Amino acid sequence: MRHLKSVLALTLITCLCASMAFAVEGNSRKGKFLYRKHCRTCHGVNASDLSPSSKVQADWKKLYANMGTIPCQKDWGAISDADKKDIFSYLHEFAKDSPTPASCQ
Ligand code: HEC
Repeated sequence: MRHLKSVLALTLITCLCASMAFAVEGNSRKGKFLYRKHCRTCHGVNASDLSPSSKVQADWKKLYANMGTIPCQKDWGAISDADKKDIFSYLHEFAKDSPTPASCQ
């Protein structure tokens, strides 16, 4: 019984940590650079002034999961999946409701 309890506790802790660690699990520092290079060419120029703090984390997560719904996706050029992950990690990490919202673009 004690063994079962500790297994349960361990499972719970693992789940909690996993959910806290969820970002989009890329490299957000690289994502910031990539966002400036691939997205700010339009956003803030001739498209909406989009920045991480334009949305809440749940919205970025949803967009990352449904990337096909983003209207400009065809204009992104050849961005690798890894780079997209980095970009969305950056957007997610500095979202409006994150502990560190982006204060400037
Ligand atoms: C060629 C110009 C262009 C580029 C490059 C571009 N976008 Fe867009 N994007 C647009 C336009 C135009 C719209 C639709 C109208 C608007 O939001 O201004 C849009 C819309 C969006 C939207 C939906 C707007 C919303 O508020 O939900 C998201 C999200 C988005 N873009 C993300 C990105 C990301 C991420 C990148 C870089 C990987 C990127 N865009 C690169 C032009 C561009």
